[in-house]
Amino acid sequence: MAHRIAVIGGDGIGPEVTAEALKVVRAAGVAIETTDFDLGGQRYLRDGEILSDAVLEQLRHFDAILLGAVGTPDVPPGVIERGLLLKMRFELDLYVNQRPFVGVAPGKTAVHDFIVIRENTEGPYVGEGGVLRRGTPHEVATQGSTNTRMGVERCVRYAFELAMKRERKHVTLVHKTNVLTYSGDLWERTFNIVAKDFPQVKTAYNHVDAACIYFVEDPYRYDVIVTDNLFGDILTDLGGAVSGGIGLASSANLNPSRTGPSMFEPSHGSAPDIVGTGKANPTAAILSAALMLDFLGENAAADRVRGACEPAVTGTTVEIGNAIAARLASK
Ligand code: IPM
Ligand code: MN
Repeated sequence: MAHRIAVIGGDGIGPEVTAEALKVVRAAGVAIETTDFDLGGQRYLRDGEILSDAVLEQLRHFDAILLGAVGTPDVPPGVIERGLLLKMRFELDLYVNQRPFVGVAPGKTAVHDFIVIRENTEGPYVGEGGVLRRGTPHEVATQGSTNTRMGVERCVRYAFELAMKRERKHVTLVHKTNVLTYSGDLWERTFNIVAKDFPQVKTAYNHVDAACIYFVEDPYRYDVIVTDNLFGDILTDLGGAVSGGIGLASSANLNPSRTGPSMFEPSHGSAPDIVGTGKANPTAAILSAALMLDFLGENAAADRVRGACEPAVTGTTVEIGNAIAARLASK
């Protein structure tokens, strides 16, 4: 049966790269039935819709959601991010953000291969906090970070289960336990407790600032990394930068309990400055679609898509999509 995919092309280069990703999925021989959802900054500017509960309800009935990019310079920062992207992550309980990094870091010759598992529904992203006396010299702004035992544990457990499927079977916890002593303590204790259930998995701990150095200087030490929402956000941009650039960085927002659809999106933004120029690299979107195929149980097709992305193709957005699709068709 065809997989039912909700497609949110979104803003800027989002629709362009999403079209290539769908082209490649079809070229891989996977039957999909797509439904387009017109959401994002442009839609918001037109009629005020960001993501109503009614549309969210429709999305719940799909097997997966494929998203291009959302955000436009005409809408103040945070409106679409919170109202659409984060609302989907929270409401669909997409508690794992999985971002794989395979590449050769600048100045290196060997290939690194690691995956960051970012907690995706808690931390500072919850939006706990507020403002007092805004705009006055006595202004106060507080921004909390929410970390629950359940939320941390399910994310950490996912990371260990993933490591069990990989050759090296190694998980590194990244945090800042020397300063964030309350949340860091919860993460560290939970990590150590979960680790007991996986005696074959080796573990390590890095502070997030040190991890930044290792990403650049010794990415080979990593296999699976698990970290909180904000550290994961920052660290995965660095991961993209040391793995061939953000044009290759794929991402999966997963609900591993499968109580609803998971969402797949390239890590890059809507890049309004290059919209329509053909300069957008669709590879990140294509590799995100491969993560979607994995989650839909189409693992052989997912591997073939990843294989077809190598060696890297150059050209316009459509040329790259066509070349990758052609490699699949000829297999
Ligand atoms: C990402 C993005 C989002 C995040 C933004 C757009 C809200 O940077 O997916 O990494 O911070 O999670
Ligand atoms: Mn980010």
